[in-house]
Amino acid sequence: MEIVIRPTPADVAVTAADIVADHVRRGPAVLGLATGSTPLATYQELIRRHRDEGLSFADCVSFNLDEYVGLPKGHPESYREVIRKEFTSHVDIPDGKVEGPDGTAADIASEAQRYEDAIKAAGGVDVQLLGIGTDGHIGFNEPVSSLASRTRIKTLTTQTREDNARFFASIDEVPIHVLTQGLGTISEAGHLLLLATGEGKAEAIAATVEGPVAAINPASVLQFHPHVTVVIDEAAASRLR
Ligand code: F6R
Repeated sequence: MEIVIRPTPADVAVTAADIVADHVRRGPAVLGLATGSTPLATYQELIRRHRDEGLSFADCVSFNLDEYVGLPKGHPESYREVIRKEFTSHVDIPDGKVEGPDGTAADIASEAQRYEDAIKAAGGVDVQLLGIGTDGHIGFNEPVSSLASRTRIKTLTTQTREDNARFFASIDEVPIHVLTQGLGTISEAGHLLLLATGEGKAEAIAATVEGPVAAINPASVLQFHPHVTVVIDEAAASRLR
């Protein structure tokens, strides 16, 4: 596991964009995309490189990590919409190549299998962007998720619903269920790129990098992966020994 500590969140975004751009240039790349606040600056930097430096995503395919269950299609907080709004609609990746689990599917178990199959059919994810929850979740694999889990429905913890309430009018509007790639699914990506900024993530990062590998801290599964880059700012690194 490579740990890169950068002074500020803006530096984290530049380093993360360097890594993603490298995969894209080597292309055709299968990108694993995360939502949440942390990767937004990285997406902005990639958009800038597309606009100013001609970085092309035309040959890429992307797969979102997760999706809320039950938000209507087109809801502004559905992760399909968020990833379009924040990233893919500003670059030249074809919209039909931007994939995500469908949280409106009538049969969620079949949809989970369809999504697993789609990732496999694309040849697997080359580089997977990850944020981390304050409770150590990646994707929406909350504490005590099986380290071998596949794409499936999960119930969000109260803490994650509180953390995400900032995107909704109130916590009551935050869905209770999500469809998420499992820890086993995520672990099959070729290169895992975990980003974290701010003091609020320091505890989770220390547990991920230095703690025991345990289902209680889902991100600790990264310790088993042969190619992980953790890019964090000094605040998020502040609890590392
Ligand atoms: C989102 C996701 C989540 C977030 C995590 C951190 O697709 O998979 O694991 O990465 O909740 O969110 P932020 O970056 O908003 O702190």
